[in-house]
Amino acid sequence: LLLALLLSPFLVACHLKTLKYRSDASPFPANFLFGTSSSSYQYEGAIRADGKGLNNWDVFTHKSGNVIDGTNGDIAVDHYHRYLEDIDLMASMGVNSYRFSISWARILPKGKYGAVNLAGIDYYNKIIDALIVKGIQPLVTMNHFDIPQELENRYGAWLSPKLKEDFEYFADICFKNFGDRVTRWITFNEPNVFSILAYRFGIYPPKRCSKHFGNCSVGNSETEPFIAAHNIILAHAAAVNLYRTKYQQQGGQIGITVQALWFEPISNSTADKLAAERAQDFLSNWFLDPIILGKYPSEMKNILGSTLPEFSSNDLSKLQKGLDFIGLNHYAGFYVQDCMFSTCEAIPGTSRTEGYIRQTTEKDGIPIGELTGMDPFHVYPQGMEKIVTYLKERFNNTPIIITENGYCEFSNSNSTIEESVNDHKRVKYLSSYLDALSSAIRKGADVRGYFVWSLLNNFEWSNGYTKRFGLYDVDQKHQLPGLRGVVMSSRNDDSCYQSDA
Ligand code: NOJ
Repeated sequence: LLLALLLSPFLVACHLKTLKYRSDASPFPANFLFGTSSSSYQYEGAIRADGKGLNNWDVFTHKSGNVIDGTNGDIAVDHYHRYLEDIDLMASMGVNSYRFSISWARILPKGKYGAVNLAGIDYYNKIIDALIVKGIQPLVTMNHFDIPQELENRYGAWLSPKLKEDFEYFADICFKNFGDRVTRWITFNEPNVFSILAYRFGIYPPKRCSKHFGNCSVGNSETEPFIAAHNIILAHAAAVNLYRTKYQQQGGQIGITVQALWFEPISNSTADKLAAERAQDFLSNWFLDPIILGKYPSEMKNILGSTLPEFSSNDLSKLQKGLDFIGLNHYAGFYVQDCMFSTCEAIPGTSRTEGYIRQTTEKDGIPIGELTGMDPFHVYPQGMEKIVTYLKERFNNTPIIITENGYCEFSNSNSTIEESVNDHKRVKYLSSYLDALSSAIRKGADVRGYFVWSLLNNFEWSNGYTKRFGLYDVDQKHQLPGLRGVVMSSRNDDSCYQSDA
């Protein structure tokens, strides 16, 4: 610990060197956003502080069996009380932006069925102001998986089209109170992942799935993910329309963040190439196509038929060009094999709903890249260039912000402090992904920013605190000043040079 504290100024300087590319050699434009990314439930804690209402994750994590290490976000990394320390850490790294999310239940403890919690508004005002003072621009997500429990109880969450109005009401409050200083908004974080994990596999609230898909008591894994997704797309469109009409004078930009993996065909066969296309359709294009092109991907429609809800003409009028930028969370690459024209075992029962593909991380016994602590994610930096180029071509060079990219280390209690501090694997991961991104930019992709997930180790949803994505570790037991924010996942001087690409 002492060693880490002594080394920390050097290590912080390394962060700065890594994240700030020299302007003469840099492929990143002068106003490119570099920052770290977080979310309210994973960071804030302060579960009942100052009038906050309970949300779906507060309730879900308190039921036994839902989080693998039995933990929760009651305290998380105490960002609610320690945001100033965290912002200081960011400033010392030299970043110029910070992506965080607003807890809906902190602003509206009972959704629209109760009063606005002014202390919640106050909290985000303080964060935004503190960032701006340090020259750090806020990038704000309005929904990063958490909704007021009141709304889950009333509607069964995203299965109901009614939640759209509640989201619009919440978005209105956010634009009104913060939009004078926040000029970049993200409506939803990874709704494509959320819809699958909450409604197909039941490992996120409201824990719905068919029996053979997971440990749920109710749900339909074949249909519900598509219904939830459809309602989220409509809620996104409603918030975007509100922003572009009522808050036009704020002059900001609004987008949505999806998770996109890179899918490499496992062979040169046409069938496998088409399968890789379908994999992309069923993951990222599922949301991006309707929002940007006004319709679901045609292959999805062909396969799913009436399982995929229809857009009304009124919906469609709101959907066209329904974003100013694509938020992209990208971590890993997979091989994809066709299961439509040849027989192969997809995850049992998911074939149709995943586009008749099999995802794998090995080809002829050789892994696609090095395994990370977030199994089955493997390091595949080429995927960053490929996915950015793919999105550029499919969506006519719509601006992209990399809203998340990061390395999960292996949680190994035997590792020495030196090993943790040197953190070569994370350095290598981040520098190789940044190189790949810069290559896509050089070839013309309009990328506006890059955010590392994450500043601090934090609460990783149903994996609890077992997954470490942080540039910094947090002493979870004490959270005392001085013990917190200890540099653990950082780099020594040599690795600085390696990463100063
Ligand atoms: C995706 C999510 O947006 C974030 O909440 C999560 O912690 C990271 N990626 C890492 O899995």
